[in-house]
Amino acid sequence: MKHLIAPSVLSADFANLQDDIEMINHSEADWFHIDIMDGVFVPNISFGFPVLKAIQKHALKPLDVHLMIVDPDRYLAEFKAAGAENITVHIEACTHLHRTLHAIKDLGCRAGVAVNPHTSVDLLEDVIENLDMVCLMSVNPGFGGQKFIENTYKKIRTLRAMAAGRNDNLLIEVDGGVSNTNALKLIQAGADVLVAGNAVFSANDPVFEISVLKRLS
Ligand code: DX5
Ligand code: ZN
Repeated sequence: MKHLIAPSVLSADFANLQDDIEMINHSEADWFHIDIMDGVFVPNISFGFPVLKAIQKHALKPLDVHLMIVDPDRYLAEFKAAGAENITVHIEACTHLHRTLHAIKDLGCRAGVAVNPHTSVDLLEDVIENLDMVCLMSVNPGFGGQKFIENTYKKIRTLRAMAAGRNDNLLIEVDGGVSNTNALKLIQAGADVLVAGNAVFSANDPVFEISVLKRLS
């Protein structure tokens, strides 16, 4: 499968959000990556439903919603109603992950689980068949523009091996510090979806940067 590119709206210009949404619409990007932060699970607050609905109004590509919030179960239906096609919850924030994943699927969304850099992918052993996607955090979640953590390559390979024969359609997403300096190596290690915030939005030509990331092989 050709890898997917999901620019992270967290790094967009919120005063001109529509422009940045149109830029993604017209680029080779595949998804909009939407970071929801509650100031409790992570030390930052991003945005909530009013902004998400505004994004949905203009976005012509699927919304990949990454929930960095405690007790995500409370809000799953609301995120679906706000346009989420993928809903990713953090393993560290879910007491009953299996139940949460099924609740996401019952809404008709793709179910993802994110794991922090310190969390072993071995913890996914008993839910690997229930997952549509795993989001490997390659930075500690909370902020854009952080340095990529090299241990991620090993986690991609371990996860791919675990999923082999049990969930061959599993999407592996890498989130944090992705740029054109590490993207090819991530794809070669087995990543399917690359999230990129700073690399896209700090580029002189974001559309070109997206196309550089998309065309790597
Ligand atoms: C971090 C977020 C990321 C972030 C990525 O907590 O989950 O999606 O926006 O941004 P960059 O690509 O700048 O590291
Ligand atoms: Zn994210």
